[in-house]
Amino acid sequence: MERVIYITDIELELPGILRRLWAGAAGAEEAAGVRPTGIYAVVDGNVAGRFAPVLEAAGIEWMPFVAQEERKSLEGLQEIVGWLLEREADRGALLLGIGGGVTTDITAFAASVYKRGIKYALVPTTLLAQVDASIGGKTGVNFHGYKNVIGTFGSPEAVIVAPRVLGSLPAEEWHSGMAEVLKTLITGDAEMYGEAVEWYGGILEGRGIPGNEVGLGKAGQSGDGTSMAEKIVSEQDEEMLVRIVRRCIGIKSSIVEADRTEKGERMKLNLGHTLGHAVESICLNAGRPVTHGEAVAAGIIATAGISLRKGVLAEEVAGRIVRDFKSLGYRDISEILANCADVPEEEMAAKLSDFVLNDKKRKEDFINFVLIRGLGSVETAALGVNELQKIIYDMY
Ligand SMILES: NC(=O)c1ccc[n+]([C@@H]2O[C@H](COP(=O)([O-])OP(=O)(O)OC[C@H]3O[C@@H](n4cnc5c(N)ncnc54)[C@H](O)[C@@H]3O)[C@@H](O)[C@H]2O)c1
Repeated sequence: MERVIYITDIELELPGILRRLWAGAAGAEEAAGVRPTGIYAVVDGNVAGRFAPVLEAAGIEWMPFVAQEERKSLEGLQEIVGWLLEREADRGALLLGIGGGVTTDITAFAASVYKRGIKYALVPTTLLAQVDASIGGKTGVNFHGYKNVIGTFGSPEAVIVAPRVLGSLPAEEWHSGMAEVLKTLITGDAEMYGEAVEWYGGILEGRGIPGNEVGLGKAGQSGDGTSMAEKIVSEQDEEMLVRIVRRCIGIKSSIVEADRTEKGERMKLNLGHTLGHAVESICLNAGRPVTHGEAVAAGIIATAGISLRKGVLAEEVAGRIVRDFKSLGYRDISEILANCADVPEEEMAAKLSDFVLNDKKRKEDFINFVLIRGLGSVETAALGVNELQKIIYDMY
């Protein structure tokens, strides 16, 4: 399992951690006085302003990476490998990936193949990357329109989590990350799920997120433009954010620990993803993409209904999940598809089932589908393709 290091103050704490990491990588006894010159960093362009001065002061060379899903590709990989070669980075180098999931995925992949593998560490800077993408060792790039189809299972030296860096995250990225947070909590912690729903609801109502420069508007719309400095920034908000991030990392880490290569237990983390991926792909193909989290949230709303039909989830809990997600501004599948892909109601089921039945989790005539048993508890069930198709046609 990866070592997760939590920091509060990037400028103050990161240099020391990097020195210690480098001292460890280089086999030195003491970190004090070590210049981490064998560390090379790939930095998401949107956080470069925050991290460049810290890296440069420590003598670490860095390259900016434009974080877009289409750049999580073999071309992006060539760019990173070429940059490392130009700097004559050797097998003893340590690669640091700083940014959202796009940047951490591709940097980790580059490290796992450069010169047959060098050490790496990650500094995730989106909520989604902190609670999900940087944890669990999956690395990868997209290829020919297939997500993460080329990749490895890696093992970072450390994942350095600084919740305060989320202060500059745009509203829609918060909204996307919160969907993965809620997914993780449905999987493993009923109590904190309730707390998180209430906390995020309060933020959407306008209390704000600590340090957020954008300010969240209602229901995941872009912010109201008010600087967060002008909003009420409460210490409880920051404390709660840190608790949520830690808990989600804890839940994901223990699931991954039990099943690093996704043979069984880890599939639980795919809650909402079978239908969510279908929604994501349909909207992407229509040229009006939705965020990953928004698609997953729609998948979870649908899964609550499917779990109820399958008799594994009580009606009251299914209703609560749907109400919670809707009250936080997440849309259901019909709303998203009608809006982003202009799919007429009568074609919705056919379109959805086409994508779902091509899912990579399909095993011949079955799909491993994650059902909700209750808050804090999910199970993976092999649903027959015909059964799932019938459910989709009944629902949409
Ligand atoms: N490896 C895994 O297990 C795993 C799990 C889940 C998702 N993922 C991958 O993660 C990727 C999505 O990650 P993401 O949602 O973080 O998207 P992302 O990396 O595209 O980041 C979203 C946007 O936020 C910007 N950004 C990042 N940090 C910021 C900050 N602190 N302030 C302001 N802007 C910031 C980025 O530049 C980008 O524009 C996908 O490619 C997905 O496949 C991987």
